[in-house]
Amino acid sequence: MSYNFLNIAATPDVRAVQAEMGTAGMWPEPGKVVEPSALGPHEKDFISERDSFYMATVSETGWPYVQHRGGPMGFLHVLDDQTLAFADFRGNLQYITAGNLRGSDRACLFLMDYTRRRRLKIYATVSLAGADESLALKEKWAAENYRAVTERIYLLNVVAFDWNCPQHIVPRYTFEQLKAHIEPVMQRLEELEAENAALRQRLQE
Ligand SMILES: Cc1cc2nc3c(=O)[nH]c(=O)nc-3n(C[C@H](O)[C@H](O)[C@H](O)COP(=O)(O)O)c2cc1C
Repeated sequence: MSYNFLNIAATPDVRAVQAEMGTAGMWPEPGKVVEPSALGPHEKDFISERDSFYMATVSETGWPYVQHRGGPMGFLHVLDDQTLAFADFRGNLQYITAGNLRGSDRACLFLMDYTRRRRLKIYATVSLAGADESLALKEKWAAENYRAVTERIYLLNVVAFDWNCPQHIVPRYTFEQLKAHIEPVMQRLEELEAENAALRQRLQE
C-alpha cells in the first residue's frame, strides 16, 4: 500500500465511511507521506508488459470518464521512475479524454494482468509532450510498426500508485498465449485425422 495513494484517495468523505465501517485505524493518518511515489522495478516491468489499460479523467462538469487504451505490448512506456508516456491514437473522434485533460490534468490509470490476476492503480497528472519531445518519441517508437495514427503524445507524471489484491479476477488468456498450447494439439489432431483417413481407405480396398 502506497501511503501517498491514500493521501489522494482518502478524501474526508472516504474517511467518514472508513470511520463508519470501523476501518479508519487500518490506514495511515492523512497527510503523513507527501513525497511523490517512484516506480520500482516491479511496477516498471508490470507496466511494460501491458497491451492495454483503462484511463479515467474528470470532466469540467465533475463527471468521471473512463476509456480503454490498447496497443502493442509496452505501448505505455516507462520513461523514468516518475514518468510514463503513450501515443494517443486516432479513435472515435469524440476527444473526450483530450478535452477533459484541458480542464483538469488529473488521471487515474487502471492496469490489469488478467492472466496473473494482478492489478495496479496509478494517479498521474498528464501533460502534452512538446513538439520536439513528441517528434523524438514518435521516431523512437516507430519501430513498433503498429498501424495507428498518433495524434498526440501524453506524458504522465506518476503521483501515486497502489497494487490491488487478485480477488475476483477471473484469469483470461490472449490468443497469443493460448496459441502455444493449442498448436501442438491441432498438429496432433491433423496427424490423427490423416491416419484415420488412411485406415478408412485401407478398409475400403
Ligand atoms: C473507428 C473507431 C471507432 C471507435 N468507436 C468507439 C466507440 O463507439 N466507443 C468508444 O468508447 N470507443 C470507440 N473507439 C475507441 C476510441 O476511439 C479510442 O479509445 C479513443 O482514444 C477514444 O478517446 P476518448 O474516449 O477519450 O474520446 C473507436 C475507435 C476507432 C478507431
